[in-house]
Amino acid sequence: MGKLDGKNVVITGAAGGMGQTASRMFCAEGASVLGADLDNAAGTSLEVALKGEGLDFRFAEVDVTSAASVHELAETAKAHFGAVDVLYNNAGIIMGKPILDTTEEEWAFVERINSKSIFLTTKAFVPLMAGRKGSIINVSSIGGIVAFENMGAYGAAKAAAAHFSRVAAVEFAPDIRVNAICPGVVDTPMPRNFTKEMANRDEIFEAWNHEHLTGRLGRPEEVVSLALWLASDDAGFMTGAVINIDGGYSTR
Ligand SMILES: NC(=O)c1ccc[n+]([C@@H]2O[C@H](COP(=O)([O-])OP(=O)(O)OC[C@H]3O[C@@H](n4cnc5c(N)ncnc54)[C@H](O)[C@@H]3O)[C@@H](O)[C@H]2O)c1
Repeated sequence: MGKLDGKNVVITGAAGGMGQTASRMFCAEGASVLGADLDNAAGTSLEVALKGEGLDFRFAEVDVTSAASVHELAETAKAHFGAVDVLYNNAGIIMGKPILDTTEEEWAFVERINSKSIFLTTKAFVPLMAGRKGSIINVSSIGGIVAFENMGAYGAAKAAAAHFSRVAAVEFAPDIRVNAICPGVVDTPMPRNFTKEMANRDEIFEAWNHEHLTGRLGRPEEVVSLALWLASDDAGFMTGAVINIDGGYSTR
């Protein structure tokens, strides 16, 4: 028996580092997964790969910053599943810039993807979760807790995502549980692309390793394990929480 047997799950950012891991791990625990991402090519390859492994995964293209696109995704989920049990808001982007160099457009772009998107998906999917004892998992970041230099836009958007999760937990109780997770640095394409142009990239990774009490970065499956638990009925008493999964980074 899988921990997510019979559950219909929607995962955004499904074609990215943690999204691909989540898609595979959730399916392996018995879920039917609709994975959505802006990256159609990567999402389509993921669908081919997971179906080839005998997993119940389907991909749909979405732009989580667009209400129309999110509405279309909800219609696809409705047609495919009928009802939804789990919404895993994982899509995100990072941007590092000093506050005074950040343009209004950049601020809005980072906010739209990391924060407003969660408002849009919540509005679109909660009606499909009625009466299902559902679970929403929103991906925030330690960047929304620790005041990192150059992370004004990203940190503010991730902090907003965490607080929105608390309010949603209150508004949708007792039907739907809502929690936020705040990963430390996790070894996915995100930190690798973010540091691609930096001359001291190796030193940055070395410093990150030491700044986590674990002496290393997180692995995607470690973060996804927490999300999987939050999605499962084992976490039935867990709602309104903002959970750090950061190798002790924020403790230091
Ligand atoms: N990797 C880390 O160190 C880290 C740390 C803390 C939090 N996070 C958060 O975890 C989540 C997953 O990150 P990851 O490391 O797997 O990153 P990633 O870059 O590998 O994946 C992010 C995915 O989101 C998708 N995406 C971006 N904009 C989108 C849009 N408008 N519509 C739909 N999809 C869109 C991208 O195409 C990509 O597939 C993000 O929310 C990120 O902010 C990551």
